[in-house]
Amino acid sequence: MFVENQWIKIKAPATVANMVCGFDILGFAVNNPYDEMEMRWMTRANNEPSIVIINIDDYQLPTDPEKNVAGAALLALLEEYEEKAGVPKIKFEVKINKLIKPGSGVGSSAASSAGAVVGANYLLGTIFSKDDLVRFAMNGEKVASGVKHADNIAPCIFGGVTLVRSIFPLEVVALPSPQLHVTIVHPQIEVRTSDARSILKQQVLLKDAIKQWGNIAGLVAGLMKSDYDLIGRSLEDVIIEPVRSILIPGFDDLKKACKQAGALGGGISGSGPSIFMLSKTKEIALAVEKEMNQLYDGIGLPHHTYVTTINQAGVEVEA
Ligand code: HSE
Repeated sequence: MFVENQWIKIKAPATVANMVCGFDILGFAVNNPYDEMEMRWMTRANNEPSIVIINIDDYQLPTDPEKNVAGAALLALLEEYEEKAGVPKIKFEVKINKLIKPGSGVGSSAASSAGAVVGANYLLGTIFSKDDLVRFAMNGEKVASGVKHADNIAPCIFGGVTLVRSIFPLEVVALPSPQLHVTIVHPQIEVRTSDARSILKQQVLLKDAIKQWGNIAGLVAGLMKSDYDLIGRSLEDVIIEPVRSILIPGFDDLKKACKQAGALGGGISGSGPSIFMLSKTKEIALAVEKEMNQLYDGIGLPHHTYVTTINQAGVEVEA
């Protein structure tokens, strides 16, 4: 185990879930933005809480462990740890500095839950596998959106692009990818994941399903073969995007302008409101950013942009 009472630093990357066609199963981590956390463990007396959350940002997220995404993930981890190892009884203190704005659609809640469980595992002497950590962190996603999905958590923990082949039992497949540049725009509007999920249709037409699984298979093949054109053609969603895009001002025009600027393709990041685009070069990614700025400046919608690359490391710990 790591030294008692000594703080470690954690860097937890933002993630883009769905990757357009892979609703709830595909996702990738990016190098910017990321959350910063600090964590330490100590022996717990019987009457003490097992988790103390200290927010050092201004978002005023709940500090009750059961209502906090990092707290819920850590409670799941501690329950299994205490069954496995028993003594000593552990208490974690976690300081969270959210640099990924909650509700932005780039995996803010996943970064907190994934960062917390990776940090805890480091402190405990790396006794859990990455799959275990994804399982624990999904409890945080349940707190955030009411559903245990892993398409943000998995890339946050594994780094790179991941495929969640199955949730129960959990099977995460780490996918290779060629060099890809990512442009993200975050329009300053609120889209709650729970709302963005509740408007979805519960049934799909077979012809749409066929198109969608063709695209998912095409995207995975394109990533594995470093075939940029195939990646671009496969970034198409005929099931979720047509419903959700109405929540995001200027979505269709923005997508068209970015593709004209040379982007391979892209779409809604997670449940939105952020939109991401993938490009082959940094120059194209910057030209795409310009289009995003122009469009949202034009309609007077405040926004932030990021030009970044795929993060291959996942959550990083510094002792
Ligand atoms: N796959 C989830 C959704 C991601 O699209 O609802 C939420 O961040």
